[in-house]
Amino acid sequence: QVQYLSDYQPWPWLVRAVALTFRLAPRATRVAARLDLAPNPARPGRHDLRLDGEGLRLIRAAIGGVALDVTPDATGLTIPAAALPQGPFTLETEVEIAPEGNTALEGLYMSNGMYCTQCEAEGFRKITFYPDRPDVMAPFRVRVESGLPVLLSNGNLVAQGPGWAEWDDPWPKPAYLFALVAGDLRAHRGQFTTRSGRKVALAVWVRPGDEGRCDWAMESLIRSMRWDEEVYGREYDLDIFNIVAVDDFNMGAMENKGLNIFNSRYVLASPETATDDDFARIEAIIAHEYFHNWTGNRITCRDWFQLCLKEGLTVFRDQQFTGDMRSHAVKRIEDVLLLRARQFREDAGPLAHPVRPGSYVEINNFYTATVYEKGAELIGMLRRLVGAEGYANALDLYFARHDGQAATIEDWLKVFEDATGRDLSQFHRWYTQAGTPRVTVAEDWDGGTYTLTLEQATPPTPGQPVKHPVPIPVAVGLLNPNGDEVVPTTVLELTGARQSFRFEGLAARPVPSILRGFSAPVILDHDRTDAERAFLLAHDTDTFNRWEAGRALAKQVLARMVTDNAAPGPDWLAAVERVLLDETLDPAFRALCLRLPGEDDMAQTLHTAGLTPDPDRIHAARKRLGDRLAQHLAPHLPGLYEALALPGPYTPDARAAGARALRLAVLALMTRIDGGTRAARAYAAADNMTDQTGALACLIEAGRADAELAAFARQWGHDRLVMDKWFSLQSALAAPAGAAELVAGLTAHPAFDWKNPNRFRAVIGAFSGNHAGFHRADGAGYRLVADWLIRLDPLNPQTAARMSTAFDTATRYDADRRGLIGAELARILAVPGLSRDMTEMAGRMLAGI
Ligand code: ARG
Ligand code: ZN
Repeated sequence: QVQYLSDYQPWPWLVRAVALTFRLAPRATRVAARLDLAPNPARPGRHDLRLDGEGLRLIRAAIGGVALDVTPDATGLTIPAAALPQGPFTLETEVEIAPEGNTALEGLYMSNGMYCTQCEAEGFRKITFYPDRPDVMAPFRVRVESGLPVLLSNGNLVAQGPGWAEWDDPWPKPAYLFALVAGDLRAHRGQFTTRSGRKVALAVWVRPGDEGRCDWAMESLIRSMRWDEEVYGREYDLDIFNIVAVDDFNMGAMENKGLNIFNSRYVLASPETATDDDFARIEAIIAHEYFHNWTGNRITCRDWFQLCLKEGLTVFRDQQFTGDMRSHAVKRIEDVLLLRARQFREDAGPLAHPVRPGSYVEINNFYTATVYEKGAELIGMLRRLVGAEGYANALDLYFARHDGQAATIEDWLKVFEDATGRDLSQFHRWYTQAGTPRVTVAEDWDGGTYTLTLEQATPPTPGQPVKHPVPIPVAVGLLNPNGDEVVPTTVLELTGARQSFRFEGLAARPVPSILRGFSAPVILDHDRTDAERAFLLAHDTDTFNRWEAGRALAKQVLARMVTDNAAPGPDWLAAVERVLLDETLDPAFRALCLRLPGEDDMAQTLHTAGLTPDPDRIHAARKRLGDRLAQHLAPHLPGLYEALALPGPYTPDARAAGARALRLAVLALMTRIDGGTRAARAYAAADNMTDQTGALACLIEAGRADAELAAFARQWGHDRLVMDKWFSLQSALAAPAGAAELVAGLTAHPAFDWKNPNRFRAVIGAFSGNHAGFHRADGAGYRLVADWLIRLDPLNPQTAARMSTAFDTATRYDADRRGLIGAELARILAVPGLSRDMTEMAGRMLAGI
């Protein structure tokens, strides 16, 4: 049941062409498939023909027109070698499936009366018998028959009539990129002409009534297409590009060739219904899926162990894109916040795994922050090590050499070696070794010579007790005591366990700014005083490290408040005040500097420092810290709040969003003083969803949101996406003592449709992010989440398993909490018929306790 990378073998046949016919019906869809197969010279000899297939009722099978007498087993169909012709042949099958009953949302399923598919990673085997593996690539021709008005599949539309349509995708692709959509949909259309003159018809397909919320997605798509031409030289390669919005979707979105399918929350946006964060995420995810056309589709993965080959690279590309569209500094800060919150957390617990895992039970469990976000960090480090030009050359070579192929991480690194002449054998270790390296800094100053000594160590992770040094690019700059930069950014390459780097000819002992731009995904251990950190927050020339200094200072202050009830010292308050009032700084950056470290982040930080975090103390200390900051800044707040008001109608651009973010941060501080008077007025005056939910969040935290919550539900009760916000705000912000009960109440709400993944995440997912509420000492939070995971698992194992990661931090906490979590995991594991997905996750987590 465990799959190993080392077992890889090519499939014994090549699929030269695939023709599929779908006769759609909710309870009895017929899928007829014709596969043109030829022996694969890479696997000589006679082989049984094994096809994957799950939950398919086989109607008929034939080879070369002659019926076969075969019976499928639980996972597929085997045709013995003796029954196969030598040389090429055609295999025909017909199966029946029931999309209506497909609650797992994998394969062909239904959402609000529309048919749609999700095949990555292994959903195609729930549609027809096929070699469902990414290294089998073939051109697909698809005929869809249905009474529904809109019938879509991959590639170009080649013929259509009443009740049917035929699509042809000339680009060989693996089955996981197959897609089909049928429904009563409306198109929001656009057009793009590629650099070489191809006219591409663009459309965003939505349910009737949502047509007015597609502009932003379309604009984002066009910007993405242009950007990929300009920055990577990559053009689109079909005459049609379709995006479809679906309400029931396990993930964010899917890059099916020419027919991207999205969770509707990452497509639909209007100022009244979507927040600035929604607009930004839509832009990024549209870009991400579009960029997959080259990094994922034209060049795909040989096997699922190589998932980071497409995901890490595509995340890196979408991060670059967002930086270009908005602000590189702000984007970097946000990405690092996410990396630490999700990936460092993963690396520190029982689910730690390498960016390229060596084994798995259920591949859906490996669409992780490590594969995606750490995978993107590895690309960023490569780029830093070989330079922008080296990187561009390597990418050109990658596209030239591997277009049309299913490639590996070894192929990827070889391209960089060949294009730049660098030896990347040690870098390879980043892909195979799990865990976050810790880099310890020691300084020495000796009459004009300044020495930085860096030491690296990676703690053991499950299955990998012994770690080896990895190459770490450490970007460093030096400031002199007046705040001038005396050594501009230099990249030190730490390749050994311990290395010293000397800087000569300095007039005074410098203040180092280390790991600028977060040049490597490591934890930096560097003892520094509050004053030093405040100095860097005021003077560093590297924007990321300015923020980082403020962040580290806030954590240092908060940690002392948690452990010895200390009061926040003056350095942090004064430093934040200076940033807040500095009008030369981007408001979005100032808003980030004002944001307090989150409670989960603090728990992780304390645990990393060898302490046992107490969720209640963290919650209380963070509240005191925020209150103290509000008092300190009080004289400035009303003036700033007025000054930051934007004239004119809402626009979703980054500048306006930044101003709103800062203004709402100021409102949150004012709420700590006035108890919500101003926020209630702001709520009433809000004319866009950012301001409306921003004010509502203030009121919930102030404990006086009842009237506004009721009004919000009346105003938006008809709107699924907006109501998700109503649920998640309450779940996430509920006061810890009664949070579990409040959330249990939300699950009894008539609008809690728990089979819809967005709604389930909005309530249960948001609650597991309510740190002190979820980790309540009596275990009520753990019990509530476990109950709901047990309920969801038989219907939708993928989403249930993903949400079970709420329990992956058990080892941080005291023995009582560890015991309670262990008991919940054991209870989950004891459920008869538990899914493979959940069995793997709960098992790995329990093993770590
Ligand atoms: N490839 C998609 C994306 O990152 C995600 C698909 C996730 N599928 C899954 N089974 N987990 O854009
Ligand atoms: Zn992706």
